[in-house]
Amino acid sequence: MSPPTLLVLYGSQTGTAQDTAQRIVRQAQRRRLRVQVLPLDNYNVANLISESLVVFVCATTGQGDPPDNMKNFWRFLFKKSLPAGSLSRLDCGVLGLGDSSYPKFNFVAKKLHKRLLNLGANVLLPVGLADDQHDLGPDAVIDPWLTSFWEKVFALYPSLTDVIPLREDEPLPPTYTFHFLDDVNKQTDERLRILTEQTVHSQSHPFPARLLSNKRVTELSHFQDVRHIEFDISGSNIEFAAGDVVSMCPCNAPEDVQQFCQMLGLDPEARFILRATDKSAVPARLPQPCTVHHLVESYLDIAAVPRRSFFELLSTFATNELERGKLLEFSSASGQSELHSYCNLPRRTALEVLADFPHTTSELKADYLLDLFPEIQPRFFSIASSLKAHPHRLQILVAVVCYKTKLSKPRRGLCSTWLASLDPAQGEVYVPLWVKKGCLKFPKEKDTPVILVGPGTGVAPFRAALQERLAEGKTANILFFGCRSESKDFYFRSEWEEMIKAGYLTLFTAFSRDQEDKVYVQHRVRENTGLLWDLITNKSACCYIAGNAKQMPASVSDALKEVFQQEGGVSAEEADEMLAAMEKTGRLQYETWS
Ligand code: 2AM
Repeated sequence: MSPPTLLVLYGSQTGTAQDTAQRIVRQAQRRRLRVQVLPLDNYNVANLISESLVVFVCATTGQGDPPDNMKNFWRFLFKKSLPAGSLSRLDCGVLGLGDSSYPKFNFVAKKLHKRLLNLGANVLLPVGLADDQHDLGPDAVIDPWLTSFWEKVFALYPSLTDVIPLREDEPLPPTYTFHFLDDVNKQTDERLRILTEQTVHSQSHPFPARLLSNKRVTELSHFQDVRHIEFDISGSNIEFAAGDVVSMCPCNAPEDVQQFCQMLGLDPEARFILRATDKSAVPARLPQPCTVHHLVESYLDIAAVPRRSFFELLSTFATNELERGKLLEFSSASGQSELHSYCNLPRRTALEVLADFPHTTSELKADYLLDLFPEIQPRFFSIASSLKAHPHRLQILVAVVCYKTKLSKPRRGLCSTWLASLDPAQGEVYVPLWVKKGCLKFPKEKDTPVILVGPGTGVAPFRAALQERLAEGKTANILFFGCRSESKDFYFRSEWEEMIKAGYLTLFTAFSRDQEDKVYVQHRVRENTGLLWDLITNKSACCYIAGNAKQMPASVSDALKEVFQQEGGVSAEEADEMLAAMEKTGRLQYETWS
């Protein structure tokens, strides 16, 4: 029996699942198998009943939810109308990508695996549960899983064993070819041109929001630069409620774009048209024609830590044996620990790696750029304002990410650094953005109190909620805010003071470094057991915890359990159950990020 086309379907939030899917495609191509790759939501699920061979690669997002580009598929797959046995023709495998520091580790992949079995599919091997927390990264699980997957496929289609696979050092054809144009027409701002023509706003069609202000809200002497940024969204029809999030794709730094073009001998002004060599669609975010500058500035993720597949492909362009050997080692299974120390630990960027391997750039054709560098992924921020208080405006609170590793140049977060660099005083600045429903939902009932625990930038969604609740006359609001110092990073202080004065807010603050011993929001929770117990048990208050997902959410939950034990006289197990019940009914909600 000749092998069918292998279909690789993925659900990816940060790009890892997409990269893994692409890796499977390359492995299939080397085995000379026909292959097609698609995000799950671009696939017509009804066709699944006639597919023969599919591999699903699915990430699980922080709260155990499927990624955005598989949400429709997810809804369809769990329809009761789908008969058991409807996928009996299908041979498949499920590879999950997750992070075991979150409670619902690889929940999506596990649930998908179960559902496929339930629909009668022949699942070829146990679900793969890759873990970001693994010392050697998710590949520690992905590699053996893929080896086993290919063994199963070869057992199903023995004719594959007669085929001579493509050698590892032979480059595969690129996904796209670049067709450079001779004309040197006047350049328009392409970023804006493609955007303003659209009316529905999403990742492929964001709205160009004008930047109105970009203010630092921490003292200059404070270690961290935190920005309060305001956009004008007039004319966009964008609507949002407290708890929703705004998404945007950042740009690479001008000096990085310049260095990249120089290293690869690319003319930033050159214009090209992109054509797919297979069935892939040309990325909707790229205008046609497009300039090299636009491609490098806003599409190619040259500032991210490169993945293993980058080294694999780069090795095929090396003109120097030493560099080729090193790149091949980094792309081999045995070289993963070394790659981790070279790249992941110090957070070395793809651009820096390219500079370390100068004998790869002369042979690197533009055609391969989109295979080598992933697309810049969108970043999400909790919206920090309410349309009820600031009509036609959207505000965010952004901590500018900057830290040291063993490399001499500090590491910077791409999006926060880019946002901080935008200056509306230097002329009109537009940021393409779109809005998504968030996971925090605030009570509609006027009398239901809210207990908001948001240290640092975790307070952002709560500022939106408080502005909204104030406009609706909802007065029962308790906020626990934590920062390092009352004088340096106490964001929105005057706004809180006004709300307190107006009788709309009870505020508890924890300034962790204003005294010798650390004081955190959970300490303030423990100091107010009576008040919290009364609000939760007698007034059906809803609790919210937002902020950086390290120890904080768990510590605040523990403090809430202590409230139950101390005031309600319940056991530790009963307190656990009470908290779980609150979470289940939506009376305890989290919005955490790393
Ligand atoms: P620290 O930096 O002094 O440790 C906002 O970042 C605030 O959250 C800071 O005051 C920070 O304190 C505090 N914070 C850090 N870790 C925390 C934790 N595990 N629980 C609660 N707050 C924490």
